[in-house]
Amino acid sequence: MSELKIGGVPATNLVAQYGTPLYVYDQEQLENNLQSYKQSFKSEKFPTKILYASKAFQTIGMMNLVHEYGFGVDVVSAGELYTALQSNVPVNKIHFHGNNKSTEELRMAFEAGVEHIVCDNVMELAELSELAKEYQQKMKIMFRLNVGIEAHTHEYIVTTHIDSKFGIAYESDDFKECLTILDQQEYLVLEGFHVHIGSQIFEMDAWYAAIDKMVSYLKDFNEPLTLNLGGGFGVRYTEEDQPLGIEETMNHLLTYLDEILTKEEVSIKELVIEPGRSLVAEAGYTLYEVGYQKKTPNKTYYFVDGGMADNIRPSLYQAKYSCDIATNMDAEKTELVTVAGKYCESGDVLIQDTYLPPVKKGDLLVVYATGAYGYSMSSNYNRSTTPAVIFVKNGQVKEIVRRQTLVDLLRNDVRE
Ligand SMILES: Cc1ncc(COP(=O)(O)O)c(C=O)c1O
Repeated sequence: MSELKIGGVPATNLVAQYGTPLYVYDQEQLENNLQSYKQSFKSEKFPTKILYASKAFQTIGMMNLVHEYGFGVDVVSAGELYTALQSNVPVNKIHFHGNNKSTEELRMAFEAGVEHIVCDNVMELAELSELAKEYQQKMKIMFRLNVGIEAHTHEYIVTTHIDSKFGIAYESDDFKECLTILDQQEYLVLEGFHVHIGSQIFEMDAWYAAIDKMVSYLKDFNEPLTLNLGGGFGVRYTEEDQPLGIEETMNHLLTYLDEILTKEEVSIKELVIEPGRSLVAEAGYTLYEVGYQKKTPNKTYYFVDGGMADNIRPSLYQAKYSCDIATNMDAEKTELVTVAGKYCESGDVLIQDTYLPPVKKGDLLVVYATGAYGYSMSSNYNRSTTPAVIFVKNGQVKEIVRRQTLVDLLRNDVRE
């Protein structure tokens, strides 16, 4: 019976020390992804910058690793900002996003001195202008623009009704008002424009459509501005997903942008991207212990000791994953089963209808590519404790987040 190894360590050893469920990152794979972006996102025509979209998976350990590779980070809340500030990432590499930042969050960003704030709507700009005046502090501003393109997996749509909660439409009265507010104040500095068109995108055409729009807007400005194309680069969760890969995607993106800039005679100050998922998803594995099995007239269930509290994505938007029995990797996959979690929701199913070998109670099951939006979207539903997070490389294990304890769960409960 052969067993899964991650970073050179057998799954059973990892679990013996850290328990199940367990979030395991293959650190070498994380570093390969960081290196691929770093090497391929370069241009001779303009400076480039990569920000890790930390919402995908944020811990101090991850922030420090990202910083080792010279990346900046984008954050979207006081909590993400605080985590980044507590890590090795310098404050001038922190970029603050969000459609409804609170006054406290904006104050925190000013007081920390973040590199820039991505302004999402006209009310936010008015508040930013007041705060900058109060602090008598310069602040760089990017505008998140809604270009009316929504891209997911193999499809993208160009919408005529621009109704997203994110961003400002360039052609709108709101945007004109933003430019007026900017003109009438002295502390906010227009840095450039940002766009984020979606997630798990495989088709380059969606990016090209967004680039066309953005360049047409940049053309209206005399000075070169920064262009941030956001994140959303697709990853492989199952065999159905066929991403182009980091290098190829970056090459296409840079080549296309360069052509359009030349054709339209537009210069940019800097090109920025914000990959999240594509840096971390495939480097992450979740290990579970198999518990009971159950047969119904039409299904066989394998139950595992986790589920929607450690990975909400299948229940939330029918995300698909693949899995194996980590303690029996060579066995023939003869059983058509559904892998379900232990939480009190019928929708707590991790994987519908997949082939696995027969199992016994206590076997380990691995779900692949859980490194993005797993830990970061985890909850304490049913008063479950959040699993530990570990990085493994060359046979060495580093604990990144300790497993929550029952005592942790009650930390904020007030006992009368
Ligand atoms: C503004 C922005 N940038 C970057 C990302 C990261 O996207 P992904 O993890 O799909 O690369 C997101 C994700 O929601 C986002 O909203």
